[in-house]
Amino acid sequence: MKSLFVALVSISCALAQQAIYAQCGGTDWTGDKTCVTGAVCTAVNDYYYQCLPGTASTTATTTSSGPTSTPTVPAGGLPFVGGVNMAGYDFTVATDGSFNGTGSTPPVEQFSHFAQQGVNIFRIPFAWQLMTPTVGGNIDSGFFSRYDGSVQAALNSGSSPWVILDLHNYARWNGQIISQGGPTDAQYASLWSQVAAKYKDNSKIIFGIMNEPHDVPNISTWVASVQAVVDAIRAAGATSQYILLPGSSWSSAQAFPTEAGPQLVKVTDPAGGNSKLIFDVHKYLDSDNSGTHPDCTTDNVSVMQTLVDFLKANGNRQALLSETGGGNTSSCFTALNSELAFVKANSDSIAGFTVWSAGAFDTTYTLTLTPNADGSDQPLWTQAVRPNLP
Ligand SMILES: *[C@@H]1O[C@H](CO)[C@@H](O)[C@H](O)[C@H]1NC(C)=O
Ligand SMILES: *[C@@H]1O[C@H](CO)[C@@H](O)[C@H](O)[C@H]1NC(C)=O
Ligand SMILES: *[C@@H]1O[C@H](CO)[C@@H](O)[C@H](O)[C@H]1NC(C)=O
Ligand SMILES: *[C@@H]1O[C@H](CO)[C@@H](O)[C@H](O)[C@H]1NC(C)=O
Repeated sequence: MKSLFVALVSISCALAQQAIYAQCGGTDWTGDKTCVTGAVCTAVNDYYYQCLPGTASTTATTTSSGPTSTPTVPAGGLPFVGGVNMAGYDFTVATDGSFNGTGSTPPVEQFSHFAQQGVNIFRIPFAWQLMTPTVGGNIDSGFFSRYDGSVQAALNSGSSPWVILDLHNYARWNGQIISQGGPTDAQYASLWSQVAAKYKDNSKIIFGIMNEPHDVPNISTWVASVQAVVDAIRAAGATSQYILLPGSSWSSAQAFPTEAGPQLVKVTDPAGGNSKLIFDVHKYLDSDNSGTHPDCTTDNVSVMQTLVDFLKANGNRQALLSETGGGNTSSCFTALNSELAFVKANSDSIAGFTVWSAGAFDTTYTLTLTPNADGSDQPLWTQAVRPNLP
């Protein structure tokens, strides 16, 4: 009887402490406010306190904010970045890579709107067919000046931000996969060679070489296509910039360590080293991980932790979470906040995030972060994103 009693007491003590990265306080929080040993209950904002790595054991009455220490960035790596997607030039690109549209220009005033809050990275998607109307052909100068107008507005928005140029074509052109029935590697590399030549003198440009490859029959062939583009960007004279390398399964953060990751870590950089080659990952938090529902079911920090472990075990590489997001719901305020706080606390491995999405979306879009007409921000932005910006 006695030993059973002792066992029950120790179990209830263990349950009363919140696990690392769990919530431990905030408005309406009724759960326990202490963290397990090795974590500190930290005020991310009034709404959300989280158990973050640290030494002191304390409770939600703490007034400190943000992670207790800033992770050390690997030599040559990307420092912590936080920001937002500015969608529009990708509108109506189908997931089979076909496109017949004209794109929408992201409202220019949004760049300074977000920059003055601390955003230091923007991702600007575009349709391949807008940039080169024929596959393997020349850049369309009319579209380029339009796109570059947004890129320059971003660069000049006030926070000296990074800008990701995101080719939003799902590894495809008009239904067919690059080097697997569709465009040749040379045609794919030609697009990036031309774009890189335009931006080779600006070290704040990041080349996002493909959004969400999916249903890729042969991962080795895809990785060879990635290598061809890395080589073409460097050969065009853009030798200082970061390049984002996407895996498979819609750039899944979960699939990365077992699908494309083991091969993508072998991609080489003609400019030397590998600290400028960053892995591009996405993660949504709704019931089917699709980013189409207003409610979130998980912060899925376990997926991010597995990714961090993989990156550390493969030479301290870095990834960037270039899409995540949620709806206008308290479940997403909590889950997205938790996910982004994890990224911030592990930015030596996951360098940062660009949340999906502001730009040309209107304020009725399920995952909208577009500011309201009166200039106020969406609740998801103020509750979950802003507290985790650099
Ligand atoms: C674009 O037009 C082609 C040919 O008419 C069609 O097959 C394709 O489905 C269209 N794609 C989109 C995204 O509308
Ligand atoms: C993928 O392509 C490579 C190179 O062509 C080939 O050696 C390999 O067998 C293919 N793998 C699969 C799973 O088809
Ligand atoms: C986390 O995301 C993966 C897909 O990336 C999914 O399979 C898994 O169920 C998610 N976890 C939870 C708790 O929803
Ligand atoms: C978000 O939810 C709040 C509270 O329900 C509501 O007042 C607001 O209009 C919503 N915003 C959008 C863009 O739907």
